[in-house]
Amino acid sequence: MSISSVAVPPVSLGHEAEFAEDVRAGLTKPIQKELPSKYLYDALGSKLFEAICELPEYGLTRADERLLQTHSSEIAREVPGDVMICELGSGSGRKTRSVLQAFASRGRINYFPIEISASALAVCQRELSDIEFVGIVGLEREYLDGLREASARRRPGQKILVLFLGSTIGNFSHPYDAAFLRDIRAILRAGDFLLLATDLDKPMHQLIDAYDDSLGVTAAFDLNLLARINRELDADFVLQQFAHSAKFNRSTSSIEMHLRSKQRQTVTIRKAELTVDFDAGETIWTENSHKYSLAEVSAMTAAAGFQIDAQWVDREWPFAESLLRAVSTPDGMP
Ligand code: AVI
Repeated sequence: MSISSVAVPPVSLGHEAEFAEDVRAGLTKPIQKELPSKYLYDALGSKLFEAICELPEYGLTRADERLLQTHSSEIAREVPGDVMICELGSGSGRKTRSVLQAFASRGRINYFPIEISASALAVCQRELSDIEFVGIVGLEREYLDGLREASARRRPGQKILVLFLGSTIGNFSHPYDAAFLRDIRAILRAGDFLLLATDLDKPMHQLIDAYDDSLGVTAAFDLNLLARINRELDADFVLQQFAHSAKFNRSTSSIEMHLRSKQRQTVTIRKAELTVDFDAGETIWTENSHKYSLAEVSAMTAAAGFQIDAQWVDREWPFAESLLRAVSTPDGMP
């Protein structure tokens, strides 16, 4: 795989200032240096993530696709009436195809993929444009902003089905995953739906292999974050002096990705007006990927104002697809 020839679109100044500020805040944290995982997904990072999804060790995406392909007709049956479909973080859109086809088989539908990555959004729109009776309106927005905007366009009586696939919820560390579900619920109305995908607990060795694969694709995905900072914020990270590592944190039931400094070194990030010292062995925490139990999914979704109407579990790679219905809550969510 050639990873050096992919053009990265220039970012706008507003995005650049926010990126610089987030990098500055993360790398000056006193105990554990961090970088927000959303920055893993520039054009090159999104391509590397697609390659991860093909890896034999990484069964997550295949489990998600298997469940959606097998159960898309049931999902459509469980969500009757006039529905608009909004997907948070559509990626390439590949796993969404069977769901859209199932809904479109009963009439025309509108699909709003919501993505902060312009390149991923373009791929998704291109990939899915051939499905009959599906109108695609791509929204290049943060998830909640995009969902609010799509919701404002609903017709009277029309329901929303939100798709939040790929277990991206697991990348929001506790308690932000539960808080994010509440934020989604606050935009929805009682009777709307959320199809939530969650990766489930599995043996630790399987998880370590999935996040530190033998080809080194996940390592490249992780290191690309430093390369991105070099490219966009005029920094001088020497990539060979950092190593990717994946470790399982039992107390949080999460896989953590870290970039470990192989030696004592100093890095300058000019556009963040920052010079950072690293000790040998010190790490930057770049991603958290939580692995759920089914009991945890029930408790978290109920607390956010959803009821589980249906649930499908993949046994080959433990993974769950939960169809949630927004219900009225005692604290007054409509
Ligand atoms: C997008 N997300 C669900 C992936 C995960 O498994 O947490 C991101 C990923 N990071 C490394 N490999 C895949």
